[in-house]
Amino acid sequence: MPELQPLRADHAGPLLTFETDNRTFFARSIPDRRDAYFANFAANHRDLLAEQEAGTIRFHVLVGDDGEILGRFNLFDVDGGTAEVGFRMAEKATRRGVATAALRELCDLAKSYGLHGLKARADIGNIGSRRVLRRNGFIPTNETQTGGTSTGETTFWRDLDDEFRIGGELRVRRLGFGAMHLSPTDGDVVRRAVELGVTLIDTAYLYGWGANEELLARTLWPYRKEVLVTTKVGVARPGRLDGRPEVLRAQVHAALTRLRMGRLDLLQLHRIDPEVPLADQVGALKDLRDQGKIGHIGLSEVTVDQLAEARGIVEVASVQNRYNLLDREHEQVLAACEAAGIAFLPWRPVLPGVTDSAVGEVATEIGATPAQTSLAWLLARSPVMLPIPGTAKITHLEENIAAGALRLTRAQRDRLGSAARPGESLR
Ligand SMILES: NC(=O)c1ccc[n+]([C@@H]2O[C@H](COP(=O)([O-])OP(=O)(O)OC[C@H]3O[C@@H](n4cnc5c(N)ncnc54)[C@H](OP(=O)(O)O)[C@@H]3O)[C@@H](O)[C@H]2O)c1
Repeated sequence: MPELQPLRADHAGPLLTFETDNRTFFARSIPDRRDAYFANFAANHRDLLAEQEAGTIRFHVLVGDDGEILGRFNLFDVDGGTAEVGFRMAEKATRRGVATAALRELCDLAKSYGLHGLKARADIGNIGSRRVLRRNGFIPTNETQTGGTSTGETTFWRDLDDEFRIGGELRVRRLGFGAMHLSPTDGDVVRRAVELGVTLIDTAYLYGWGANEELLARTLWPYRKEVLVTTKVGVARPGRLDGRPEVLRAQVHAALTRLRMGRLDLLQLHRIDPEVPLADQVGALKDLRDQGKIGHIGLSEVTVDQLAEARGIVEVASVQNRYNLLDREHEQVLAACEAAGIAFLPWRPVLPGVTDSAVGEVATEIGATPAQTSLAWLLARSPVMLPIPGTAKITHLEENIAAGALRLTRAQRDRLGSAARPGESLR
């Protein structure tokens, strides 16, 4: 990590410098504005300057517009690949979306410094900051809470390696949520998932013949910009594959209506129908993409050859195959996805590991549950891995999402990985 210098008006060292659509954050490249920021900052934040002088804060990043301060980040410490920052945002900044943009930039910047985590301290009374942190995948942590209510601060934690851009542009957190198990009255589970920072939610027409999609729309619409709801087509009532182009078209249009979307950012083909040429099925989705009804195309339960054939017709952004610690049948498909930067969404990511003895042993070692250990192994398995654990229980949901913060040693990963061999299925 580069040496981070205290920030001063005459500072010439590395600074956080970033811009968003409508705001220029403190930018060394704009010296005239820099002076304005400092004049304002010095007038309004003598307390912070004093702390900086005393060396307790290594630098500040100001967020402003012609001297108007909308928020600030203060770096307190860097330890074990994690930076600890103070985070305070004015309510008006959170309303304008400036705070989210700034936070994302901060995460990108920290990543470019080679950091793996960010701890953000937020004032308990600063509701805007807390909301923005949660919305951007920061999880409040009890164990690192710095003094709880006595200091008026909570610490939020965020893994910086937990994001993936599907199709190079749909930015999601790698640990998603599968909605398949939800009944039409389970809206609270979905709401909690989003509250915990989940930004990838998987559904399908098959799940309740549209009822699952309707539940998501009822609960989440209007959708937050950062939330990606992805559905699947290609199975028809009463439960048979149907990949005829006219059926796929009709199912996509119906999904758009049920999900109340103008476009499906990621649409997956649930299965390749062996009765219909693959080119016709993928071609129908390509046409829908060209018409703007679909953003990116994903496949499900495909072989390496089918994936290659489909990629000869259209760009494939994601693959959803059954894969977990004990079921490595699709290892070669994962390798193909990794090579091409395609998101791999393993379904059935949790269940088989829950009763496995190797998983149980490592789980005890790291103080986690077997389900969490299985998920931690998956996340560590590949950077293109985006597990979508499914549950109808909030307790299981919370448990699963917390797995994103677990770290396995190489030896633990190897022990878990050898529970099944690549190509093998112990289901
Ligand atoms: N593309 C496909 O063909 C396909 C096929 C199947 C599924 N999927 C998608 O993949 C998602 C995940 O697959 P899945 O639901 O079959 O597999 P899963 O997520 O591995 O397993 C879900 C099962 O495990 C239980 N579970 C979840 N978290 C748990 C925990 N922390 N501790 C103990 N048990 C836990 C759930 O029951 P509780 O409700 O009791 O927690 C549920 O029965 C689905 O939701 C769906 O979106 C896709």
